[in-house]
Amino acid sequence: MTYGGTCLNVGCIPSKALLHASEMFAEAGHSFGELGIQVSPTLDLPKMLEHKDKTVKANVDGIAFLFKKNKITGITGTGTIKAAGTVEVAKADGSTETLSAKAICIATGSEVAGIPGVDVAFDGQVIVSSDDAIALPKVPKRLVVVGGGVIGVELGSVWSRLGAEVTVVEYLGKLLGSMDADVSAQFQKLIVKQGIEVKLNAKVTNVVRNGEGASVSFEPVAGGAAETLEADVVLVATGRRPFTKGLGLEELGIATDRVGRVEIDAHFQTSVPGIYAIGDAVRGAMLAHKAEDEGVALAEILAGQAGHVNYGVIPAVVYTSPEVASIGRTEEELKADGIAYKVGKFPFTANGRARAMLHTDGFVKVLADKDTDRVLGVHILGHSAGDLIHEGAILMEFGGSAEDLARTSHAHPTLSEAVREAAFAAFSGKPIHA
Ligand code: NAI
Repeated sequence: MTYGGTCLNVGCIPSKALLHASEMFAEAGHSFGELGIQVSPTLDLPKMLEHKDKTVKANVDGIAFLFKKNKITGITGTGTIKAAGTVEVAKADGSTETLSAKAICIATGSEVAGIPGVDVAFDGQVIVSSDDAIALPKVPKRLVVVGGGVIGVELGSVWSRLGAEVTVVEYLGKLLGSMDADVSAQFQKLIVKQGIEVKLNAKVTNVVRNGEGASVSFEPVAGGAAETLEADVVLVATGRRPFTKGLGLEELGIATDRVGRVEIDAHFQTSVPGIYAIGDAVRGAMLAHKAEDEGVALAEILAGQAGHVNYGVIPAVVYTSPEVASIGRTEEELKADGIAYKVGKFPFTANGRARAMLHTDGFVKVLADKDTDRVLGVHILGHSAGDLIHEGAILMEFGGSAEDLARTSHAHPTLSEAVREAAFAAFSGKPIHA
């Protein structure tokens, strides 16, 4: 047993270790030459997986260390809530321990949801979820990814860079469904250029083992002839659902919504007083930092302080190459809500640092209120987008305007200047360098 849940053990951390390593491999093979470095890299997959495992270990050990340092008692076992204030833990040796507490917090996260309406026989080797797709012992020749959401494009990118022929089959008419459509369209062009095949508006209706491999059947969402793809490995990445089995929710009468999320009030309290819930088990984005923010807010509330999470300002990042990052509202959402807005855009091709680094793909897009200039959303496709997005996060947290960002001095030459230029474009109608 290790601490850290999905994020540290089989999610964010291992996938980022593989994304970084495979990106380095791809750059060494494709763009080092242009920088005047002649190399022909060869893949050592066991070593790459070892790097991933070491990264995971350092992180989960870090949590155990912090528990000790902060005098937090960790108990290993399966917990069931027996009543408000009582948790029973079943341990591996068959014994049980009953714990009493003033407050109980459900933070049990989520599990792989599978494909709605399709019986998927996950076997961990050929038909896999993200849990196993971070540990494939060899590079599959053909990888079919069902679902073009975050996991699909991140892990699809990893194995494509390492040599797999990757096809992503997505139900919607765009990849990364919740992202700004401009960003999503440009992102799709870039990953297709990288060699990933994308099939949109395609509903997967069956995934079955077929000898050593598997077949994936799908049909056009609008109707039409079905198609079948053969694969050596199929990654099913069609979403996750709250993991609350065996917790005792039904017995206690803790209310859940139609997709099984624990219902909570504005202070994270469930329908049973004294029992709280946070993270993937409740409504909102299934993101580690959202869960973390909720955990901090709940601790503050329980300590008698005013804990609060600003759900309108939670960044979302896809760690592909280039990265995709977003905060606040998309252009589509503003249109749907009838909010008058201004758009400022700036491409990385016009940024000196990006040119020096050969990372000129993508752009920054700032959306601001048409009348007040208040920034309503920032969307970035580009190298280090996941770091750059925090300019928008801090600005929006303080209710800042595009002019505030545009008039803030930015070091030259940095990628951040592209964020400033997009803010200039939003507030004055034109970036400085245009
Ligand atoms: P997702 O919800 O992001 O994407 C699932 C995709 O599968 C959707 O685009 C959906 O339209 C598609 N789909 C569903 N049924 C289908 C069918 N029958 N045929 C074809 N396509 C179908 O879910 P994903 O990628 O599994 O990720 C799960 C959760 O984990 C998400 O909430 C995500 O935000 C989170 N996550 C976040 C990461 C990050 O922050 N970088 C990394 C990985 C996961």
